[in-house]
Amino acid sequence: MSGIIDIIKTRRSVRKFASQPVPDEIITALLDAALSAPSASNRQSWHFTAVSNRAVIKAMADSVREEIENLKKETENEEALTAFSSYAGYFTFFETAPLVIAACFIPRPNYINALAGRQIRPEDNLEQTTAIGAAIQNLLLAAHSLGYGACWMSGPLIAEKRISGLLKLDGLRLAAIIPVGAAAETPRQPKRKDTDKLTARII
Ligand SMILES: Cc1cc2nc3c(=O)[nH]c(=O)nc-3n(C[C@H](O)[C@H](O)[C@H](O)COP(=O)(O)O)c2cc1C
Repeated sequence: MSGIIDIIKTRRSVRKFASQPVPDEIITALLDAALSAPSASNRQSWHFTAVSNRAVIKAMADSVREEIENLKKETENEEALTAFSSYAGYFTFFETAPLVIAACFIPRPNYINALAGRQIRPEDNLEQTTAIGAAIQNLLLAAHSLGYGACWMSGPLIAEKRISGLLKLDGLRLAAIIPVGAAAETPRQPKRKDTDKLTARII
């Protein structure tokens, strides 16, 4: 494989993993790639927890399953429930990976609002949530270039509070769960929007 564009184009979300452990030097390289991402004012308001402990990973998946069941009990909309039930498995498959990385950001009030003493910008945490996205993508690309599969998952955030408790993520917000391992599948590329449609609006 050669070049960053090839790495970007051939990366896929991998959801099936071989059980062999991910070596420590690979874990270090993945985290180093994540930490190399750009961030507003170079604040690096992020935090990564790499979990290889099977019991902890299972407890994380159990908490996601329980929250899914709680949500199902609460929902009265049958149609939404059927749709949700069909993809709930996409929230928990991370438990089959030998390594699971919890990507967090450190929440902060919007600094422009703090400076002005009034709400100029509606969102807090925009810089933090976008920067953690860049870090996650770096990590996914690094995994792919090193011969490992990974997947960016927000589904498990349904159990954010309980996962934060399990991993002791005090003061952090969980942005994604990323299972990593040797791929046990070769996913096909999901269709992308055509570039000419994306560039239809030229102002
Ligand atoms: C913010 C975000 C959240 C995602 N959450 C999940 C998830 O919870 N479960 C899952 O199976 N895939 C998840 N994905 C992966 C997407 O389904 C996947 O990126 C998309 O289908 C395109 O496929 P590709 O990554 O192979 O190009 C997520 C991706 C992103 C960027």
